[in-house]
Amino acid sequence: MNLELNVNGEPRPLDVDPWRRLLDVLREDLGLTGSKEGCGEGECGACSVLLDGEPVNSCLLPVGAVEGRAVRTVEDLASADALHPVQRALVDLAGTQCGICTPGIAVTAAWILETHPEADRAQVRTLLAGNLCRCTGYQLVVDAVMAALEAQR
Ligand code: FES
Ligand code: FES
Repeated sequence: MNLELNVNGEPRPLDVDPWRRLLDVLREDLGLTGSKEGCGEGECGACSVLLDGEPVNSCLLPVGAVEGRAVRTVEDLASADALHPVQRALVDLAGTQCGICTPGIAVTAAWILETHPEADRAQVRTLLAGNLCRCTGYQLVVDAVMAALEAQR
């Protein structure tokens, strides 16, 4: 089936089975391998992307359901010469270890910076609840998001 996605601000025409997972189409057809598969069941958030500006699990979405909607992936966070502030903070404050969860956390954290600029630590924890991490214990992730939030205030 021919359909057109809008990914990271670009029209991306595709000829795909509309029931394939958005995660697979992003990674396999469009070469956007930043989004990761953890659980494949909507539990871990490693596959998080923004859909019309809101975080979603791309492992749960058939690609046909996102036609005409805006998909933003982790590849769109950094500019050509600089990481997104929350990516920079995750690196600087050691909020990433094995890295499997990191793209999804970065996507959700960038959304937090945009939509909840006054969030406190407890709110950041709640907003990140859909992004699981087996390595960091979350303290350093939350430290990084708080540092990015405070830097933009
Ligand atoms: S891989 Fe999508 S939520 Fe875990
Ligand atoms: S850094 Fe390994 S799962 Fe989060």
